[in-house]
Amino acid sequence: MTDTRAIEAGSVQRCEDCGAEIGEMETGGACPSCGGLLEIVHRFAERAPALLERFRARRGAIDGAARSGVWRYHELVLPTARERDIVTHPEGNTPLISRAAIARWATVDGLLVKHEGMNPTGSFKDRGMTVAMTQASRTGARAVACASTGNTSASLAAYAAQAGIPALVFVPTGNVALGKLAQTIAYGARTLLVRGNFDACLTLARQASDALGVQLLNSVNPFRLEGQKTIVLELLEQLEWQAPDWIALPAGNLGNTAAFGKALREARAIGLIDRLPRIAAIQASGAAPFAASFRGNFAERLTVTPETIATAIKIGAPASWNRAVRTIRETNGVVAAVTDAEILDAKAMIDAAGVGCEPASAASVAGVKALRDAGVIAPDARVVAVLTGHLLKDSGAVIAYHQDAMPRPARANPPIEIEPRLADVERVLGTMELRAADRA
Ligand code: F0G
Repeated sequence: MTDTRAIEAGSVQRCEDCGAEIGEMETGGACPSCGGLLEIVHRFAERAPALLERFRARRGAIDGAARSGVWRYHELVLPTARERDIVTHPEGNTPLISRAAIARWATVDGLLVKHEGMNPTGSFKDRGMTVAMTQASRTGARAVACASTGNTSASLAAYAAQAGIPALVFVPTGNVALGKLAQTIAYGARTLLVRGNFDACLTLARQASDALGVQLLNSVNPFRLEGQKTIVLELLEQLEWQAPDWIALPAGNLGNTAAFGKALREARAIGLIDRLPRIAAIQASGAAPFAASFRGNFAERLTVTPETIATAIKIGAPASWNRAVRTIRETNGVVAAVTDAEILDAKAMIDAAGVGCEPASAASVAGVKALRDAGVIAPDARVVAVLTGHLLKDSGAVIAYHQDAMPRPARANPPIEIEPRLADVERVLGTMELRAADRA
């Protein structure tokens, strides 16, 4: 991370619509000519063998930004950031997990899950936030803001606290899981409960950032996507740079879908991998405009009024649409939708395997099973499903499923109230042995 390399390398922001280029330290957040979304274009100073060596050398770091599973890939994320600029928890370094129960359920032997819920605030958002907050800090932001279904706000709040920048968040009232709201408030962000859905929150946050000069750190901010690319880079590294056949992920506002495509495109261009995995973006069927558009070969950009139990992906007008289309096209990918019942069944199974995730995350595994059933994914395919958030983010959904839902779902494990008597314990134990015998 020396300054010499920072000078050789370099990055600009380029408008995805009109191609206009602006400097990487510009802070408007959108194309000044046409208002289009910006993407970061890097000029890489190094290629595969040298970079692989550098990434490997950082793996054992015990201090500094190199400890981060985002900044380990510094050259691919924000090459000009200097060590002292970087706002890192650290984050990333999440496990790639193999569990027979999950693979069996999805009927894909080679299924692995990448658990992004193991990030410091409990979701993948931290990977984008460390980069966006670093950029906000080094460009002198007076305040930062985001619209959120909860995870972005929790992450923004934590990183803003670390950077010492005031934070404002817009969340849809009544549609944010309690764990996420609790984090956001606790980390000290000023929290606005907006009487509207996520899409209304994002529109309002964009207006506020234009009018009030507050930096918007949603995934429309291109620096967020640079950080989120490292989910893919890290899983490729964990697979020793042998690309899997498929990567499945939940899709809401489509920031991750866009970031995954960019990561793969760049990884291939600089020789880190020689073939692209196919991306499977999975939506909840009540919030699936991207899946519907995919079925029509993306002829139309659709919006819906979203409705799903998976509040994190309850989004009807996804912002990163065009760049996500590019990901699906370039990787010969697919977009599918799964019902809330399928999401909840997958989640209960992932939870009972001792792994656990929030409802939106389970969409990725439910999607793998659905695509297997449809014959799109082969039984011997090597598949990585990304779990985007932690089980405890939405404990309300867990209690609703296991304790309150009637009729009882197949995997329900309701707690049992007893008298303080040994006989009651013995009675319960008897039913447990019976269930174990049933399974054998
Ligand atoms: N999974 C989780 C746990 C999320 O929190 C989100 C998005 C997604 C998946 C969808 O990712 O938007 O990149 O397609 N949550 C945002 C938020 C919208 O505000 O926390 P995407």
